[in-house]
Amino acid sequence: MRFPAAVKMVEVGPRDGLQNEKGAVTTGTKVELIDRLSDAGLTVIESGSFVSPKWVPQMADTSQVLAKIKRKPGASYPVLVPNMKGLEAAAWAKGVEEIAVFGAASETFSQKNINCSIAESMERFAPVAAAALKKGWRVRGYISCVLGCPYEGEVASKAVVDVAAKLLDMGCYEISLGDTIGVGTPAKAQAMVEAVAAKVPRDKLAVHFHDTYGQALANILACLEKGIAATDSSVAGLGGCPYARGATGNVASEDVLYMLNGLGIRTGVDLDKLAEAGRFISRALGREPASRVARALAAKLP
Ligand code: HMG
Ligand code: MG
Repeated sequence: MRFPAAVKMVEVGPRDGLQNEKGAVTTGTKVELIDRLSDAGLTVIESGSFVSPKWVPQMADTSQVLAKIKRKPGASYPVLVPNMKGLEAAAWAKGVEEIAVFGAASETFSQKNINCSIAESMERFAPVAAAALKKGWRVRGYISCVLGCPYEGEVASKAVVDVAAKLLDMGCYEISLGDTIGVGTPAKAQAMVEAVAAKVPRDKLAVHFHDTYGQALANILACLEKGIAATDSSVAGLGGCPYARGATGNVASEDVLYMLNGLGIRTGVDLDKLAEAGRFISRALGREPASRVARALAAKLP
């Protein structure tokens, strides 16, 4: 099997993870988490969302978080932006240089998540992306439900390809393919990636697996085999999606890194520091990290 020599790990825990926590996480805890993650060597750390605080109250302090983090040279701290109102808030916040727009390959999920159809979402995102690019910011695009939808079941790859092509046209430098509810399996993941890669160059694709069915690492490996060299993950396996009932967290960053290290793939991330960041946020949340690797390291297993 051939794998990329280096993989970019995109850390989404402070956003995808903490957006789904019922208990309040203080701004100070979020800031310390992000600083620990950058200290561990992560260079892309999604740090919040400019969405409606009525829909996702957990992200309401994103501006304060951005004002307080220690920015590492060369690191990027993207935020989710669903519309022009979110873009204006991002422009007022300190230091935003990258945003992500987030669409879906399923109509029902799009309605539940952002209150509009897929076509309407593309009409909303186009001016957001154009304005962000004009400011010199980078724009990432997400597609949810690429391997299944909590409301509609199976999702055809064609729906994913159509949205991916539109996000590319808008100027997204990277498109993250999200298995929102973690139902995918390796062969299906590979087929979906191949379909999208017919329209979007592989070096502009990332994968984003939630681990609901325990398939995430296998799916990532299968996608690396198809030439994908960027993967999203969440420290301590934090997270879920507020609009996908039962979806568990993202694949744990510690578990992804352990696998990549074992394959000799470069990431620039330090496993011990990453695991310590995971223990820090897990203590704050009053539970054990969901990462198997973090637990094994803590138990000093051989
Ligand atoms: P809407 O109700 O259709 O929006 O929501 P609206 O334009 O009609 O405005 C309604 C109210 O929201 C107004 O306030 C607006 O000012 C306010 P009111 O007059 O009632 O007081 N509003 C905003 N406030 C702050 N920031 C904004 C904003 N926009 C409107 N940007 C909207 C549409 C998109 C805003 C809403 O549906 C929303 O916020 N949804 C949250 C979506 C979300 O954050 N989901 C989780 C992230 S996606 C995810 O996790 C998947 C991913 O990880 C990949 C994967 O795993 O699949 C990325
Ligand atoms: Mg997600």
